[in-house]
Amino acid sequence: MGFSTKQIHEGVTPDPVTGSILTPIYQTTTYVQNSVDEYLAKGYSYSRSGNPTVRALENKLTALEEGADTACFGTGMAAINALFLAFLNAGDHAIISDVVYGGTYRLATKVYKRFGVEFTFVDTSNADNVKAAIKSNTKLILTETPANPTMKLTDVAAVSKIAKAAGIPHAVDNTFLTPYFQKVLDLGADMSVHSTTKYFDGHNATVGGAIVSANDELHEKIAYVRNATGTIMSPQVAWLTLQGVKTLSVRMDRQSANAQAVCEFLEKHPKVQTVCYPGLPSFRQHDLAKQQASGFGAMAWFEVKGGLTAGKKLMDSIELWSLAENLGSLESLITHPVTMTHADVEPEERARVGITDGLVRISVGLEDAEDLIAALDKALAGI
Ligand SMILES: Cc1ncc(COP(=O)(O)O)c(C=O)c1O
Repeated sequence: MGFSTKQIHEGVTPDPVTGSILTPIYQTTTYVQNSVDEYLAKGYSYSRSGNPTVRALENKLTALEEGADTACFGTGMAAINALFLAFLNAGDHAIISDVVYGGTYRLATKVYKRFGVEFTFVDTSNADNVKAAIKSNTKLILTETPANPTMKLTDVAAVSKIAKAAGIPHAVDNTFLTPYFQKVLDLGADMSVHSTTKYFDGHNATVGGAIVSANDELHEKIAYVRNATGTIMSPQVAWLTLQGVKTLSVRMDRQSANAQAVCEFLEKHPKVQTVCYPGLPSFRQHDLAKQQASGFGAMAWFEVKGGLTAGKKLMDSIELWSLAENLGSLESLITHPVTMTHADVEPEERARVGITDGLVRISVGLEDAEDLIAALDKALAGI
């Protein structure tokens, strides 16, 4: 089956009792057992451990990523927390891409460091840097590609090869491209991590997370931690996400086409200093983008001439685009990472990895490209 057929039909079957075509929201705490001896005969005991609506979403995501199994979480950060809890003990070391979502950096440096876990933030765009950073106590490699917000890419196959040779699990945050554009497990990664808040939901309606594992052993470790810490996704969120995923490929194709048009416009504008989008031939890793993904996605950033002051003026005055923190939704969003998504990354670290004060991040939505461009044109004229 093709991706679009799978995104609609995998994981769900008409309700056996009523024929309801949509999977019901199983809003329940517990599940009545057949008998003491037949405990778990129907597969469920308590909704912290598992829930049929959440399971339908998990099965759908497993099929789309072509993995072994999936665990869904209350947020993307709960998924990343489960990843750390499943693989890292006090005294262990983890390698993380030097550009990642600010919340991932915060969880590592402000929370896990308190428990004696050590992190190295590595420029994973060069796989040799990953090899060089491996120590005897390295227990996890987490890369994010494209990285939020600079769009730096990691060669997933190259890093996975290094990780495999060293016997270290490699997880990839695949939030920006989703399996529609980038199959990280096929490329050799062990786990694909998602904030389902973004493209899977797509409608700015929910927060959620997921980890798709390449084998059952990895999945069991993650599911164990999820049950122990109580971070499962709610059935209401799973139900909304199940509907969102059904249009994933259609939204991503259109959003990427819009992003390409918007970035080509920005690149030619005299008031724009830099534009960074993997679909532009000027993008430093354009060849890698084409090699490991089937689309460029709908995330980009630009800087205007006049730096932070001019950029703030643009973000405060622009029409149609919403100044907001999410990404991946059908509404186009504009974000200032330094004050919003990456505020907890120290200024020196931001400078080191290229998150400049004037960087304006855009998440291109599903509106008509001409309207998005007209709004940018008007805002640029005013700065
Ligand atoms: C790449 C990436 N990973 C993870 C997260 C965290 O997800 P959530 O906000 O659902 O906790 C985000 C949030 O912006 C993100 O952009």
